Amino acid sequence: MRDDSNLKFEIIDLIGKEEYELTGFKSLSQYELLLVKCLPALSFTGTKHRLEYLKNAIPNGFQKKMLMHDGEIVGTIEYAPPVFSFYPIHGENIVVMNCVWVLSKAKGHGFGEKLVKSMITGCSGIDGFATIALEKHWTPWFRRWQIEKLGFKPIDSMNVRHKVKRTSMLFTVYLMWLPTNEDSKLPKWDKSKMTEGLKFCRGHPLYNADSWKTKQILEEQTV
Ligand SMILES: CC(C)(COP(=O)(O)OP(=O)(O)OC[C@H]1O[C@@H](n2cnc3c(N)ncnc32)[C@H](O)[C@@H]1OP(=O)(O)O)[C@@H](O)C(=O)NCCC(=O)NCCS
Repeated sequence: MRDDSNLKFEIIDLIGKEEYELTGFKSLSQYELLLVKCLPALSFTGTKHRLEYLKNAIPNGFQKKMLMHDGEIVGTIEYAPPVFSFYPIHGENIVVMNCVWVLSKAKGHGFGEKLVKSMITGCSGIDGFATIALEKHWTPWFRRWQIEKLGFKPIDSMNVRHKVKRTSMLFTVYLMWLPTNEDSKLPKWDKSKMTEGLKFCRGHPLYNADSWKTKQILEEQTV
């Protein structure tokens, strides 16, 4: 077992810390930048769609946390009630995790697990947490084994191909589930809606760019 006793880190809730007004890129304050960006070292995670998403989601239960280590922000997690999340996942008394990410320069401290625990602690009375994972996708994101390491289990899947990029590659999208009690009811997802991808994060492997001009970026494959 690793000894965490000297590990200095802080998990900061961004929502509710101060007043905010999401008015547009030019007028974004430092605080707003943290909300709009994924991790501060990176560029914007989206354009107007991200702002529109936040305007709607923040008053409806969206949460975002940053993990600070050695004076630097190295991790983030964001989650929301199903209707205000990134994904077409439904369930009673559940929360959907949009994203979790720890920079590789900060790996080895279990920060991902700490962020997930912090989400669970912040959502008392919730029956479970759902998210997605991918297998055989060409990017390193949302890998199933990594999401499993954080405690989630796959409960359903769909085989798809991308309609714009690497169109000959088949990959799998999983519905992942982390129940918090034995009686939790499994969540469901709308697979046809899932094929539309999402517009709220430019770095997301299922990002659907406006310039592609297609409603559905994924095509389900029966194999
Ligand atoms: C999944 C993820 C969050 C995990 O990051 P992490 O918490 O920094 O992972 P760690 O390096 O600390 O954990 C690595 C290992 O240390 C272990 N570990 C960590 N803390 C430990 C502790 N206190 N005691 C014992 N073992 C520990 C982990 O179990 C893991 O085991 P392994 O060596 O068998 O793999 C991270 O890899 C990530 O961000 N991946 C990308 C996720 C993604 O795609 N996000 C979307 C972006 S668009």
